[in-house]
Amino acid sequence: MHTRIRTFEEYQTAYQQSVENPEAFWGALAEQFIWQKKWDKVLDWNFEEPKVQWFVNGKLNITENALDRHLKERGNKLAIIWEPNDPKERFVRLTYRELHEQVCKAANMLKAQGVKKGDRVVIYMPMIPELAISVLACARMGAVHSVVFAGFSSSSLADRINDAQAYAVITSDGLYRGAKEIPVKRVVDEALEHCPSVKRVIVKERVGWKPRMMEGRDVSWEAEIEKADKNCPAEVMDAEDMLFILYTSGSTGKPKGVVHTCGGYMVYTDYTFRNVFQYEESDIYWCTADIGWVTGHSYIVYGPLLAGATTLMFEGVPTWPDAGRFWQVVDKHNVNTFYTAPTAIRSLMAAGTDHVLSYSLDSLKILGSVGEPINEEAWHWYHIHVGKEKCPIVDTWWQTETGGILISNLAGVTPHKPAHATLPLPGIQPVLLTAEGKEITENEEEGLLCMKFPWPGMLRTTYGDHERCRQTYFSSFKGLYFTGDGARRDEHGNYRIIGRVDDVINVSGHRFGTAEIENAINQCIHVAESAVVGYPHEIKGQGIYAYVITREPITNEENLRGEILEAVVKEIGKIARPDKIQFVSGLPKTRSGKIMRRILRKIAEGDTSSLGDTSTLLDPNVVDEIKAGAIH
Ligand code: WT7
Repeated sequence: MHTRIRTFEEYQTAYQQSVENPEAFWGALAEQFIWQKKWDKVLDWNFEEPKVQWFVNGKLNITENALDRHLKERGNKLAIIWEPNDPKERFVRLTYRELHEQVCKAANMLKAQGVKKGDRVVIYMPMIPELAISVLACARMGAVHSVVFAGFSSSSLADRINDAQAYAVITSDGLYRGAKEIPVKRVVDEALEHCPSVKRVIVKERVGWKPRMMEGRDVSWEAEIEKADKNCPAEVMDAEDMLFILYTSGSTGKPKGVVHTCGGYMVYTDYTFRNVFQYEESDIYWCTADIGWVTGHSYIVYGPLLAGATTLMFEGVPTWPDAGRFWQVVDKHNVNTFYTAPTAIRSLMAAGTDHVLSYSLDSLKILGSVGEPINEEAWHWYHIHVGKEKCPIVDTWWQTETGGILISNLAGVTPHKPAHATLPLPGIQPVLLTAEGKEITENEEEGLLCMKFPWPGMLRTTYGDHERCRQTYFSSFKGLYFTGDGARRDEHGNYRIIGRVDDVINVSGHRFGTAEIENAINQCIHVAESAVVGYPHEIKGQGIYAYVITREPITNEENLRGEILEAVVKEIGKIARPDKIQFVSGLPKTRSGKIMRRILRKIAEGDTSSLGDTSTLLDPNVVDEIKAGAIH
């Protein structure tokens, strides 16, 4: 069994094998890892309950495979290169041996703080090495990590902590983001006023602010790590034990805790990392995501470390001190593989090509894109100015729920095609369906993207609410996993992802449910009702357009706008602020009271020529009013 596919023919063979005999295919790939006990059965599944188990009764620890396994041959190889927010600050390098030691110490520190196997630990931290160390330390001692992106508000953080019933939180005093300093610990303190399950807070120093520490609850990372022993045997985990929970938005108001387990996730992230990025032993690999999102989990931490790669972690932002920052980091560390989001490419493109032309970028071999559809203009700019027309671009389609990449070209092995995620990876069996659930076999027809067969990295449940998992992903079409995306397939079998077909909007690659933003807006005392839709946005991919009905006639529109923005920042975070707010006296509703979002989306897009049938509306006149007041 080859862990890396090198030619198009090998891809075809691997794909065929994976479909004909999935158990033999994945079983052989799993053999290369250290298992404390081998599995009895590779796969047990049904999509009805759903129940999916990979490597049944296998025992392992993912950190033993990501760290210990490499010590003999790669002990002195760099595991992590950390590049700080400020280019003038010193960068940090950790070899596999050093990372192993730090993870063991941090795992012992967690134990000393009373964290037990199976306990949930929420991590709310900036992109510093201790974030990756915390994640791995949880995995080492069997705790379930749940990383919350440090841009979320205290209220979002509290919701996630409570849903997970976390015992401990790991955080920092503050964080740097570009020219800004943000008081992280204060956000945690606010959240914890509403989180009785949390007994311990571990605070890493980053900006040197000396935050308020609560006696008996808060401890300092530096002081505790000092006391921790550097030997920590890896906890024996069942393949199906929880590795982590990661919260993500759906169509309803409440984010759900997507659950990933140890064995399958390990095999899948390793395999997809090696193949999609055509990883070579000497590569310096950089994924610009934040570990607060699934991309960071799978392709900054686990995938690269399992493969024994050198992974670069970046604390800063693409546009500070200037729009050349990414390219400066590429040259400084001789990055070979660069993986980022279309929104970042579009914002750098808008800042002018001069920035990218001032760097050599000679080291680059492979480029990647993730998080949202990449438009052709951005694709070409990326290909020409960053990749100098010599680097394949992998357009990787996947989701928090899928754990790893499902549809993508393999760099330089299967062809890239602008704006297309292209082919399913081995083991992945997509189908396109009509809304009625009929399989679409013709090419160039848009359909709903589903999966027929399980893959090792897929979600197992939504934390604390299995029925919700069934309902959301497995009930639309019998026996299939429904992704929530629409897609099209060309004559060569290449998939083009169109985007979400549910009430989820993708803003700069970040996922929000429209209901979640509406709930936040409705917190304002002057707001009676609201409806949120996405619209095409030049940089962000999608922007947020809010239609708002007020309780009484508006006296000061600017004030109210400010209140609405503030409510969203408070409930969710800055990243979910609406770009446009239109005050309306009514919303287009059906006679049964359902908001017709299709019409609101059209108006937000500025396309009012084809609103379709509005005769079933309760009050067709509101449409004219909304059209007249639309913001473009
Ligand atoms: C949604 C999942 C996967 C990690 C980051 C986002 C959209 C993701 C692509 C792509 C077109 C994409 C989909 C998907 N998406 N990658 N290459 N081309 N669309 O994870 O927050 O779970 O969002 O992002 O709509 O359903 P996520």
